[in-house]
Amino acid sequence: MRTPLFRRMKRWAIILPLMLLSSLLFAACGNSPTITEPKGIVASQEAGLFWFILVVATIVFVAVEGWLIFSIVRYRERPNMPQPRQIHGNNTVEIIWTVAPSIFLFAVLAGTIYTMFNLQNISGTNGAGRLEVQVVGHQWWWEFDYPNEHIVTADTLYIPKGWVIQTDLISNNVIHSFWIPEITGKTDVIPGHNNHQIFRADQAGVYRGECAEYCGTQHAHMDFNVVVFDTYGEYTTWLSAQQHAAQTPTSSLALQGQQIFKGAGGCTACHGIVGVNLKSFDDPTAKGLIGPNLTHFGSRTVLAGGVLDNNAGTINLTTGLLDHSNNNQCQPGNLANCNLAKWLHDPQGIKPGNDMVIGTLTDAQVNALVAYLESLQ
Ligand code: CUA
Repeated sequence: MRTPLFRRMKRWAIILPLMLLSSLLFAACGNSPTITEPKGIVASQEAGLFWFILVVATIVFVAVEGWLIFSIVRYRERPNMPQPRQIHGNNTVEIIWTVAPSIFLFAVLAGTIYTMFNLQNISGTNGAGRLEVQVVGHQWWWEFDYPNEHIVTADTLYIPKGWVIQTDLISNNVIHSFWIPEITGKTDVIPGHNNHQIFRADQAGVYRGECAEYCGTQHAHMDFNVVVFDTYGEYTTWLSAQQHAAQTPTSSLALQGQQIFKGAGGCTACHGIVGVNLKSFDDPTAKGLIGPNLTHFGSRTVLAGGVLDNNAGTINLTTGLLDHSNNNQCQPGNLANCNLAKWLHDPQGIKPGNDMVIGTLTDAQVNALVAYLESLQ
Protein backbone atom coordinates (compact mmCIF):
# COMPACT_ATOMS: atom_id res chain seq x y z
CA MET A 1 0.00 0.00 0.00
CA ARG A 2 1.73 3.09 -1.23
CA THR A 3 -0.51 6.10 -0.75
CA PRO A 4 -1.36 6.02 2.99
CA LEU A 5 2.32 6.35 4.00
CA PHE A 6 2.83 9.44 1.84
CA ARG A 7 -0.50 10.92 2.85
CA ARG A 8 0.50 10.53 6.51
CA MET A 9 3.89 12.12 5.83
CA LYS A 10 2.21 15.04 4.11
CA ARG A 11 -0.01 15.57 7.13
CA TRP A 12 3.00 15.58 9.49
CA ALA A 13 4.80 17.93 7.15
CA ILE A 14 2.05 20.43 7.99
CA ILE A 15 1.64 19.60 11.71
CA LEU A 16 5.32 19.68 12.69
CA PRO A 17 6.11 23.22 11.49
CA LEU A 18 2.87 24.41 13.15
CA MET A 19 3.98 22.87 16.47
CA LEU A 20 7.40 24.50 16.15
CA LEU A 21 5.87 27.87 15.34
CA SER A 22 3.47 27.76 18.30
CA SER A 23 6.27 26.81 20.72
CA LEU A 24 8.24 29.81 19.46
CA LEU A 25 5.22 32.05 20.02
CA PHE A 26 4.78 30.74 23.59
CA ALA A 27 8.49 31.20 24.24
CA ALA A 28 8.08 34.88 23.40
CA CYS A 29 5.32 35.29 25.98
CA GLY A 30 5.94 36.60 29.50
CA ASN A 31 9.06 38.30 30.76
CA SER A 32 11.03 35.30 31.91
CA PRO A 33 14.77 35.86 31.89
CA THR A 34 16.47 34.10 29.02
CA ILE A 35 20.01 32.82 28.47
CA THR A 36 19.82 33.97 24.86
CA GLU A 37 19.93 37.66 25.84
CA PRO A 38 23.06 37.77 28.02
CA LYS A 39 23.91 40.97 29.94
CA GLY A 40 27.26 39.83 31.33
CA ILE A 41 30.47 38.28 30.05
CA VAL A 42 29.93 34.89 31.70
CA ALA A 43 26.39 34.48 30.38
CA SER A 44 27.43 35.67 26.92
CA GLN A 45 30.31 33.18 26.72
CA GLU A 46 28.00 30.43 27.91
CA ALA A 47 25.40 31.51 25.35
CA GLY A 48 28.12 31.35 22.67
CA LEU A 49 28.91 27.78 23.73
CA PHE A 50 25.19 26.95 23.73
CA TRP A 51 24.78 28.15 20.13
CA PHE A 52 27.94 26.34 19.03
CA ILE A 53 26.74 23.03 20.52
CA LEU A 54 23.27 23.62 19.07
CA VAL A 55 24.74 24.06 15.58
CA VAL A 56 26.89 20.92 15.92
CA ALA A 57 23.95 18.93 17.30
CA THR A 58 21.66 20.22 14.53
CA ILE A 59 24.11 19.14 11.82
CA VAL A 60 24.31 15.65 13.39
CA PHE A 61 20.54 15.48 13.90
CA VAL A 62 19.67 16.51 10.35
CA ALA A 63 22.29 14.19 8.83
CA VAL A 64 21.32 11.14 10.91
CA GLU A 65 17.54 11.63 10.79
CA GLY A 66 17.67 12.59 7.10
CA TRP A 67 19.56 9.44 6.27
CA LEU A 68 17.21 7.38 8.45
CA ILE A 69 14.05 8.75 6.83
CA PHE A 70 15.57 8.39 3.36
CA SER A 71 16.44 4.76 4.12
CA ILE A 72 13.00 3.97 5.56
CA VAL A 73 11.28 5.31 2.46
CA ARG A 74 13.75 4.21 -0.19
CA TYR A 75 14.46 0.72 1.13
CA ARG A 76 11.13 -0.14 2.76
CA GLU A 77 9.91 -3.68 2.33
CA ARG A 78 7.91 -4.39 -0.81
CA PRO A 79 6.18 -7.63 -1.79
CA ASN A 80 8.53 -10.36 -3.02
CA MET A 81 11.70 -8.45 -2.20
CA PRO A 82 14.84 -10.46 -1.44
CA GLN A 83 16.91 -10.01 1.77
CA PRO A 84 18.85 -6.71 1.57
CA ARG A 85 22.64 -6.78 1.22
CA GLN A 86 24.28 -7.10 4.67
CA ILE A 87 27.09 -4.62 5.51
CA HIS A 88 28.37 -6.24 8.72
CA GLY A 89 32.18 -6.25 8.70
CA ASN A 90 32.52 -3.42 6.16
CA ASN A 91 35.64 -1.66 7.48
CA THR A 92 35.20 1.56 5.48
CA VAL A 93 31.66 2.17 6.79
CA GLU A 94 32.61 1.31 10.37
CA ILE A 95 35.63 3.64 10.35
CA ILE A 96 33.47 6.48 8.96
CA TRP A 97 30.77 6.12 11.61
CA THR A 98 33.36 5.95 14.38
CA VAL A 99 35.57 8.81 13.26
CA ALA A 100 32.80 11.26 12.24
CA PRO A 101 31.05 11.35 15.67
CA SER A 102 34.46 11.54 17.38
CA ILE A 103 35.30 14.69 15.41
CA PHE A 104 31.98 16.29 16.37
CA LEU A 105 32.32 15.33 20.04
CA PHE A 106 35.91 16.57 20.11
CA ALA A 107 34.77 19.92 18.72
CA VAL A 108 32.19 20.18 21.52
CA LEU A 109 34.79 19.17 24.14
CA ALA A 110 37.32 21.71 22.84
CA GLY A 111 34.70 24.50 22.83
CA THR A 112 33.61 23.60 26.37
CA ILE A 113 37.15 23.50 27.81
CA TYR A 114 38.05 26.75 26.02
CA THR A 115 34.99 28.48 27.54
CA MET A 116 35.66 27.05 31.03
CA PHE A 117 39.21 28.43 31.05
CA ASN A 118 38.06 31.79 29.68
CA LEU A 119 35.50 32.12 32.48
CA GLN A 120 38.20 31.69 35.14
CA ASN A 121 40.08 34.70 33.80
CA ILE A 122 37.56 37.49 33.67
CA SER A 123 38.58 40.89 34.97
CA GLY A 124 36.78 44.11 35.77
CA THR A 125 36.10 46.64 33.01
CA ASN A 126 37.81 50.06 33.08
CA GLY A 127 39.96 49.16 36.07
CA ALA A 128 37.05 47.88 38.19
CA GLY A 129 38.04 45.43 40.90
CA ARG A 130 36.56 42.42 42.64
CA LEU A 131 33.73 42.26 45.12
CA GLU A 132 33.31 39.34 47.49
CA VAL A 133 29.80 38.15 48.35
CA GLN A 134 28.72 35.14 50.39
CA VAL A 135 25.51 33.72 49.00
CA VAL A 136 23.56 31.62 51.50
CA GLY A 137 20.72 29.40 50.28
CA HIS A 138 17.92 29.00 52.81
CA GLN A 139 14.64 27.16 52.53
CA TRP A 140 13.42 29.18 50.62
CA TRP A 141 15.14 32.50 50.19
CA TRP A 142 18.60 33.85 49.48
CA GLU A 143 20.82 35.77 51.86
CA PHE A 144 23.68 37.95 50.60
CA ASP A 145 26.54 38.70 53.01
CA TYR A 146 29.18 41.27 52.09
CA PRO A 147 31.97 40.21 54.48
CA ASN A 148 34.29 43.16 53.78
CA GLU A 149 31.53 45.76 53.77
CA HIS A 150 29.86 44.28 56.89
CA ILE A 151 26.30 44.26 55.57
CA VAL A 152 23.68 41.59 54.97
CA THR A 153 20.70 41.70 52.62
CA ALA A 154 18.01 39.23 51.65
CA ASP A 155 16.18 38.52 48.38
CA THR A 156 18.14 41.15 46.43
CA LEU A 157 21.78 41.17 45.37
CA TYR A 158 23.22 44.64 44.69
CA ILE A 159 26.34 44.91 42.54
CA PRO A 160 28.13 47.56 40.48
CA LYS A 161 28.38 47.19 36.70
CA GLY A 162 31.72 45.96 35.37
CA TRP A 163 32.99 44.58 38.69
CA VAL A 164 33.98 40.95 39.07
CA ILE A 165 31.68 39.40 41.66
CA GLN A 166 33.33 36.58 43.51
CA THR A 167 30.76 34.43 45.34
CA ASP A 168 31.05 31.75 47.99
CA LEU A 169 27.95 29.59 47.70
CA ILE A 170 26.87 28.28 51.08
CA SER A 171 23.92 26.15 52.21
CA ASN A 172 23.11 25.03 55.72
CA ASN A 173 20.15 22.87 54.72
CA VAL A 174 19.70 21.17 51.33
CA ILE A 175 21.18 21.52 47.85
CA HIS A 176 20.12 24.66 45.98
CA SER A 177 21.44 26.06 42.71
CA PHE A 178 22.38 29.69 42.16
CA TRP A 179 21.38 31.03 38.74
CA ILE A 180 21.02 34.46 37.15
CA PRO A 181 20.06 33.49 33.57
CA GLU A 182 21.06 36.80 31.95
CA ILE A 183 24.31 37.15 33.91
CA THR A 184 25.69 33.77 34.94
CA GLY A 185 25.02 30.05 34.66
CA LYS A 186 23.98 27.63 37.38
CA THR A 187 26.22 26.46 40.21
CA ASP A 188 25.03 24.07 42.92
CA VAL A 189 24.92 25.31 46.50
CA ILE A 190 25.81 22.24 48.55
CA PRO A 191 25.74 21.83 52.34
CA GLY A 192 29.24 21.11 53.69
CA HIS A 193 30.92 21.86 50.37
CA ASN A 194 31.20 25.52 49.53
CA ASN A 195 31.22 26.19 45.80
CA HIS A 196 32.51 29.36 44.20
CA GLN A 197 31.45 31.28 41.16
CA ILE A 198 32.65 34.47 39.52
CA PHE A 199 30.66 36.65 37.15
CA ARG A 200 30.33 40.20 35.91
CA ALA A 201 27.26 42.23 34.92
CA ASP A 202 27.88 44.51 31.94
CA GLN A 203 24.59 46.39 31.76
CA ALA A 204 22.78 48.27 34.52
CA GLY A 205 19.29 47.09 35.36
CA VAL A 206 17.25 44.73 37.49
CA TYR A 207 17.56 41.04 36.71
CA ARG A 208 15.89 37.97 38.10
CA GLY A 209 17.78 35.13 39.72
CA GLU A 210 16.35 31.78 40.65
CA CYS A 211 17.04 28.54 42.44
CA ALA A 212 17.65 25.89 39.79
CA GLU A 213 17.73 22.74 41.93
CA TYR A 214 14.65 21.17 43.50
CA CYS A 215 14.97 21.94 47.21
CA GLY A 216 11.55 21.26 48.68
CA THR A 217 7.93 22.26 48.22
CA GLN A 218 8.66 25.98 47.71
CA HIS A 219 11.60 25.50 45.35
CA ALA A 220 9.76 27.41 42.63
CA HIS A 221 9.36 30.31 45.10
CA MET A 222 13.06 30.91 45.67
CA ASP A 223 13.69 33.84 43.35
CA PHE A 224 15.77 36.92 43.96
CA ASN A 225 16.44 40.23 42.26
CA VAL A 226 19.82 41.46 41.09
CA VAL A 227 20.19 45.23 40.99
CA VAL A 228 23.14 46.26 38.81
CA PHE A 229 24.24 49.86 39.40
CA ASP A 230 25.49 51.84 36.43
CA THR A 231 28.39 53.42 38.34
CA TYR A 232 30.52 52.45 41.30
CA GLY A 233 29.52 55.72 42.98
CA GLU A 234 25.86 54.69 42.94
CA TYR A 235 26.85 51.41 44.51
CA THR A 236 28.83 53.06 47.33
CA THR A 237 25.94 55.48 48.00
CA TRP A 238 23.66 52.50 48.43
CA LEU A 239 26.32 50.72 50.49
CA SER A 240 26.80 53.52 52.99
CA ALA A 241 23.03 53.72 53.51
CA GLN A 242 22.96 49.97 54.18
CA GLN A 243 25.84 50.14 56.67
CA HIS A 244 23.82 52.30 59.05
CA ALA A 245 21.75 50.86 61.82
CA ALA A 246 18.00 50.91 61.30
CA GLN A 247 16.25 54.26 61.35
CA THR A 248 14.32 55.14 64.47
CA PRO A 249 10.65 55.42 63.62
CA THR A 250 9.20 58.92 63.55
CA SER A 251 5.47 58.27 63.35
CA SER A 252 3.59 56.90 66.34
CA LEU A 253 2.14 54.11 64.19
CA ALA A 254 5.64 52.97 63.18
CA LEU A 255 6.72 53.18 66.85
CA GLN A 256 3.83 50.86 67.72
CA GLY A 257 5.07 48.53 65.00
CA GLN A 258 8.55 48.52 66.52
CA GLN A 259 7.05 47.60 69.90
CA ILE A 260 5.22 44.66 68.31
CA PHE A 261 8.45 43.61 66.60
CA LYS A 262 10.40 43.72 69.87
CA GLY A 263 7.60 42.40 72.08
CA ALA A 264 7.49 39.07 73.86
CA GLY A 265 6.65 36.30 71.38
CA GLY A 266 7.35 38.85 68.65
CA CYS A 267 9.47 38.81 65.54
CA THR A 268 12.91 38.88 67.19
CA ALA A 269 12.94 35.10 67.66
CA CYS A 270 13.64 34.77 63.94
CA HIS A 271 14.49 38.22 62.55
CA GLY A 272 17.23 40.71 63.31
CA ILE A 273 17.28 44.47 62.98
CA VAL A 274 20.56 46.29 63.62
CA GLY A 275 19.94 48.89 66.33
CA VAL A 276 17.00 46.94 67.75
CA ASN A 277 17.98 43.37 68.62
CA LEU A 278 21.38 43.26 66.87
CA LYS A 279 24.40 45.44 67.68
CA SER A 280 25.79 45.19 64.16
CA PHE A 281 25.47 43.07 61.03
CA ASP A 282 28.31 40.93 62.41
CA ASP A 283 26.54 40.41 65.77
CA PRO A 284 26.97 36.70 66.67
CA THR A 285 23.30 36.59 67.73
CA ALA A 286 22.40 36.90 64.04
CA LYS A 287 23.74 33.39 63.39
CA GLY A 288 20.91 31.91 65.46
CA LEU A 289 18.14 33.76 63.60
CA ILE A 290 16.52 31.75 60.80
CA GLY A 291 14.65 34.62 59.11
CA PRO A 292 16.03 37.42 56.93
CA ASN A 293 17.73 40.45 58.48
CA LEU A 294 15.17 43.29 58.23
CA THR A 295 17.39 46.30 59.03
CA HIS A 296 16.67 47.95 55.66
CA PHE A 297 13.55 46.06 54.71
CA GLY A 298 11.81 49.17 53.39
CA SER A 299 14.47 49.57 50.70
CA ARG A 300 13.99 46.09 49.25
CA THR A 301 12.11 45.39 46.07
CA VAL A 302 10.79 41.93 46.84
CA LEU A 303 9.87 39.90 49.90
CA ALA A 304 9.13 36.33 50.91
CA GLY A 305 11.84 34.86 48.70
CA GLY A 306 10.74 36.80 45.64
CA VAL A 307 7.13 35.60 45.81
CA LEU A 308 5.80 39.12 46.32
CA ASP A 309 6.90 42.54 45.12
CA ASN A 310 7.43 45.02 47.92
CA ASN A 311 4.76 47.23 46.35
CA ALA A 312 5.16 50.08 48.82
CA GLY A 313 6.92 51.98 46.03
CA THR A 314 8.85 51.57 42.82
CA ILE A 315 12.52 50.80 42.43
CA ASN A 316 14.82 53.73 41.78
CA LEU A 317 17.65 52.41 39.64
CA THR A 318 20.05 55.20 40.55
CA THR A 319 19.85 54.72 44.29
CA GLY A 320 18.96 51.02 44.19
CA LEU A 321 16.31 51.76 46.79
CA LEU A 322 12.57 51.53 46.76
CA ASP A 323 11.14 54.97 46.00
CA HIS A 324 8.26 55.37 48.43
CA SER A 325 7.17 58.79 47.13
CA ASN A 326 4.60 57.27 44.79
CA ASN A 327 3.51 54.60 47.21
CA ASN A 328 -0.24 54.24 47.16
CA GLN A 329 -0.45 50.54 47.98
CA CYS A 330 0.84 50.33 51.55
CA GLN A 331 -0.66 53.45 53.13
CA PRO A 332 -1.65 53.15 56.78
CA GLY A 333 -5.27 52.06 57.13
CA ASN A 334 -5.54 51.19 53.43
CA LEU A 335 -3.66 47.95 53.01
CA ALA A 336 -6.03 45.93 50.81
CA ASN A 337 -3.44 45.74 48.01
CA CYS A 338 -0.30 45.87 50.13
CA ASN A 339 1.76 42.73 49.63
CA LEU A 340 3.58 43.05 52.95
CA ALA A 341 0.21 43.22 54.74
CA LYS A 342 -0.99 40.13 52.85
CA TRP A 343 2.17 38.31 53.85
CA LEU A 344 1.85 39.27 57.54
CA HIS A 345 -1.79 38.20 57.59
CA ASP A 346 -1.19 34.77 56.05
CA PRO A 347 2.41 33.71 55.33
CA GLN A 348 1.44 30.01 55.20
CA GLY A 349 -1.39 30.68 52.76
CA ILE A 350 0.97 32.53 50.40
CA LYS A 351 3.93 30.17 50.74
CA PRO A 352 2.85 26.90 52.40
CA GLY A 353 5.56 25.14 54.41
CA ASN A 354 7.83 28.15 54.90
CA ASP A 355 9.41 28.79 58.30
CA MET A 356 7.29 31.84 59.10
CA VAL A 357 4.71 30.20 61.36
CA ILE A 358 3.00 32.94 63.37
CA GLY A 359 -0.23 33.51 65.21
CA THR A 360 -2.97 35.53 63.58
CA LEU A 361 -2.29 39.26 63.66
CA THR A 362 -5.06 41.82 64.00
CA ASP A 363 -5.58 44.48 61.32
CA ALA A 364 -4.24 47.07 63.77
CA GLN A 365 -1.06 45.05 64.39
CA VAL A 366 -0.49 44.55 60.65
CA ASN A 367 -1.11 48.25 60.07
CA ALA A 368 1.57 49.18 62.63
CA LEU A 369 4.06 46.55 61.42
CA VAL A 370 3.72 47.68 57.79
CA ALA A 371 4.28 51.29 58.83
CA TYR A 372 7.37 50.26 60.81
CA LEU A 373 8.97 47.84 58.33
CA GLU A 374 8.43 50.11 55.32
CA SER A 375 10.02 52.98 57.26
CA LEU A 376 13.28 50.97 57.46
CA GLN A 377 14.87 52.36 54.30
CU1 CUA B 1 16.42 26.29 46.53
CU2 CUA B 1 15.35 25.17 44.76
